[in-house]
Amino acid sequence: MDSIEIEGGYPLEGEIQISGAKNSAIKLMAVCLLTEQPVELTNMPRLRDTRFMGQLLAHLGVEVEEGPGARMSLHAKTLSSTTAPYDLVRKMRATFNVLGPLLARTGAAKVSLPGGCAIGARPVDLHLKALEALGANITLDQGYVIANAKDGLRGGEITFPFISVGATEHSILAAVLAKGESVLNNAAREPEIIDLAECLNAMGAKISGAGRSEIRIEGVSSLNGVSHKVVPDRIEAGTYALAAATAGGKVKLTNLRHDHLGALWPLIAQSGADVSLKADHVIIERETGPIRAVDMDTQAYPGFPTDLQAQFMAMMTLSDGVSIIRENIFENRFMHCPELGRMGANITVSGREAIVRGVKSLQGAQVMATDLRASASLINAGLVAKGKTSVGRVYHLDRGFEHIEIKLGQCGAKIKRVSDGS
Ligand code: EPZ
Repeated sequence: MDSIEIEGGYPLEGEIQISGAKNSAIKLMAVCLLTEQPVELTNMPRLRDTRFMGQLLAHLGVEVEEGPGARMSLHAKTLSSTTAPYDLVRKMRATFNVLGPLLARTGAAKVSLPGGCAIGARPVDLHLKALEALGANITLDQGYVIANAKDGLRGGEITFPFISVGATEHSILAAVLAKGESVLNNAAREPEIIDLAECLNAMGAKISGAGRSEIRIEGVSSLNGVSHKVVPDRIEAGTYALAAATAGGKVKLTNLRHDHLGALWPLIAQSGADVSLKADHVIIERETGPIRAVDMDTQAYPGFPTDLQAQFMAMMTLSDGVSIIRENIFENRFMHCPELGRMGANITVSGREAIVRGVKSLQGAQVMATDLRASASLINAGLVAKGKTSVGRVYHLDRGFEHIEIKLGQCGAKIKRVSDGS
């Protein structure tokens, strides 16, 4: 199994181009199920998660082709199956979001429940309630959701009891072809939701309000093909910004939307790094000087993203004081704490809060993580730790970071992928 090895202590100097957003790309891929015409996605990241989604779509009968230059074409001219089996869904939870489009297109679908995940139970009850509000008949059988809408889905009003990115996206995907108007209240406002709505609107959908709490969708009878550019990955951008602010040096980030990280920049600045936001790039610079302790709590967008919590914590392990980090989105997203502890960090977790007491230095160690963003935090810690850090279970990283070792290596990090041949 591959691992990433880092020799810490080298500041980062250089430029990193941000890829398309994983969490938008995998939902945009599901859009192809809603039309018989071809869908082309550009600025597509090449990741394990996009590959998993491609495998599921191919299983359903979609022609999936990866082209040169970060392009992917998807053509669901006809569907050969409306069943998403457990073996494909368990690998990547967001594949569950094919349920709505399959239902919208064919009136029936059988999709495996995704099951739990290392960061929390992550139920899909809100997804199912939303589909029921759109007229679907849903039963559960042996770990599968069996959904029917014989006369097609119809518009409905959905009020989410709390914000869910996935349930908002799933509702949009189902409602675009429903008869009549749908209203989503307390919808998630993430940039990936706007990206999805823009793609669907370019195909002829009538969605208004994406990016706000109330989204309205006037159902249409069919959608056209489209060529759509995936929004830049704000989490990848934030991860490298935090890498620079943690390891020191000067890094220019390009191909990003800095307005999508409005909650991150002030905290990096408060920690003592310079943040320069320009129209088409961002520069993060930290010369010598302490990392100031800053408190942080995760929130739904536009708050601080949970997907950057672990990377922010890695920086705070070296602060000149005490930082309190609160995780409000997932109930079990502190698994990186003991691993950072193995590198010398002083972190006490109590419920949803982590108290991070800054230490003078971290030491390299053999570490591993149980999820994608936690792995990234260990890489960031390894960049600044004394000696060698080896991060195991690299398949987590490969789910969501394109060429992480190449991108950081180009900035002077001593980082390499090591294969043990197994
Ligand atoms: C998306 O997950 C992202 N995944 C996550 O990124 C991200 O952390 C999360 O949104 C929050 O921003 C993808 O886009 C593929 P939610 P999602 O529904 O949609 C609970 C990464 O590392 N909930 O907003 O699954 C849920 O358990 C991943 O890239 C229910 O209880 O997140 C959580 O506590 C990790 N019932 C909260 O809501 C439901 O039906 C928010 O989850 C749905 C969610």
